[in-house]
Amino acid sequence: MDGNGRWAQLRGLPRYEGHKRGVEKVKEIIRAALRLKISVVTFYAFSIENWQRPKKEVEIIMELLENTLKKEKKNFISQGVRFKMIGNRYLMPENILSVIEETEQETSNCKELIAQFAISYSGRDEIIRAVKRLIKEGITPDIIDESLINSFLDTSGVAEPDLIIRTSGEQRLSNFLIWQSAYSEFYFTQTLWPDFTEDEFTEAILDFQKRQRRFGKVSEFTRAY
Ligand code: FPP
Repeated sequence: MDGNGRWAQLRGLPRYEGHKRGVEKVKEIIRAALRLKISVVTFYAFSIENWQRPKKEVEIIMELLENTLKKEKKNFISQGVRFKMIGNRYLMPENILSVIEETEQETSNCKELIAQFAISYSGRDEIIRAVKRLIKEGITPDIIDESLINSFLDTSGVAEPDLIIRTSGEQRLSNFLIWQSAYSEFYFTQTLWPDFTEDEFTEAILDFQKRQRRFGKVSEFTRAY
């Protein structure tokens, strides 16, 4: 969800106005994902690196998150949206984490859509935490395989992303789902996140549907020689 700051600055507004509008877009895309019968959607809301932003901006983002969850919880439940956080919980302020965990708990039986929020998240940190836990649990090298690693990640049990959309013109992953994106397709757009719409989301999915995914193999229609 990149470009909130630039969107606000272009209008002579403080950066938090961009984040505020960004939250409205999260709601719009969740509604669209429900309509399109998508099973998992993940929003990169706050990276571990983002903790280094000015204290005031971090406070505003955390406050937005807290207020949004408090307000949206009943809508999540009525729409069948299961809320999940992925990221480093040890770095989270206690009061925000308790709202997050309460929302996770209360939406845990929702079945229409999993909405994952990457908060205090970085892919490398996720892998480091997984390795530490794996060692602590006494896992021996001979049983380590992809599915075992998957089961130790924050995303355990949730399908990996088919499509990753990044807004605002940057063309990089920035530590997002680096293990899980091994075979993801990418869609980059110049649109700033606060200007992103359901129509463009649909366009990205239609574009994705035209792609041929071979997962390292050859297409069944390719002649051998
Ligand atoms: C990236 O734009 C956006 C963020 C780092 C914050 C995104 C957070 C929210 C939308 C609010 C979180 C709340 C919920 C409910 C998800 P940027 O600030 O890096 O923009 P810039 O690159 O233009 O400066």
